[in-house]
Amino acid sequence: MRVDVLTLFPGMFAGPMNESMMWKAQDRGLLDLQIHDIRDYTQDKHRKVDDTPYGGGGGMIMRVDVVVRAVEALASAGTPVILMSPQGRLLSHAVAKELAGHEHLILLCGHYEGIDDRVRQLVVTDEISIGDYVLTGGELAAMVVIDAAVRHIPGVLGAEGGADTDSHADGVLEGPHYTRPVAFRGLEVPTILQEGDHTKIEGWRRQEGLRRTWQDRPDLLFDARLTDDEKYLLGQFADEDSASGKASISTK
Ligand code: ADE
Repeated sequence: MRVDVLTLFPGMFAGPMNESMMWKAQDRGLLDLQIHDIRDYTQDKHRKVDDTPYGGGGGMIMRVDVVVRAVEALASAGTPVILMSPQGRLLSHAVAKELAGHEHLILLCGHYEGIDDRVRQLVVTDEISIGDYVLTGGELAAMVVIDAAVRHIPGVLGAEGGADTDSHADGVLEGPHYTRPVAFRGLEVPTILQEGDHTKIEGWRRQEGLRRTWQDRPDLLFDARLTDDEKYLLGQFADEDSASGKASISTK
């Protein structure tokens, strides 16, 4: 997969994108990540990328001519051009997986007060937000999108585990994980994990994932794909909660 990022701050990407799995994905030839400085697409001697807003108001707006020139230098027909924006559709497991299905993506990082709206009208095909809060720029959001999408490319996670068993893959969070030592400060690794019966372990993990979802993110359960046994388990968690006087839906 090729990802071109357009940014005013290319230096922000060096650390996060060149460590761990993002480095491995590039080293294995699964990710071709190119970071471009939008300033390189200016044509005036001051390399001006922004200007004051028509109609007044504070801040600076990124210029349409420069940004469109940059996008058009990189895009081919059909390439998604994604503007990182707090006004975009929310990133989720499903959106990350969908993005990973593309051969080529262009991510455009907004900055300053915003970007001339004609950029959206002329070249942007999608807008993505990483959450309902406002960052100072789209760079951190672009890195989050790249990381979340790239781990869905077959071969990226390798032996480290598959993206289909992730928390959020089917609306149920992952259960807890343990490693040595078997006991620490009075807390023991659950016996079932030590015994090595893989069918039982799978069942236990799913049950504990379900318990965690019930306790911490009950909102996810509205859309989760659950078997009848799993629905029955939820009923048991609800009974346990009412027996112990807890509200049946956590408000956390
Ligand atoms: N740029 C500023 N805030 C953002 C957000 N929440 N998501 C994506 N891009 C952004």
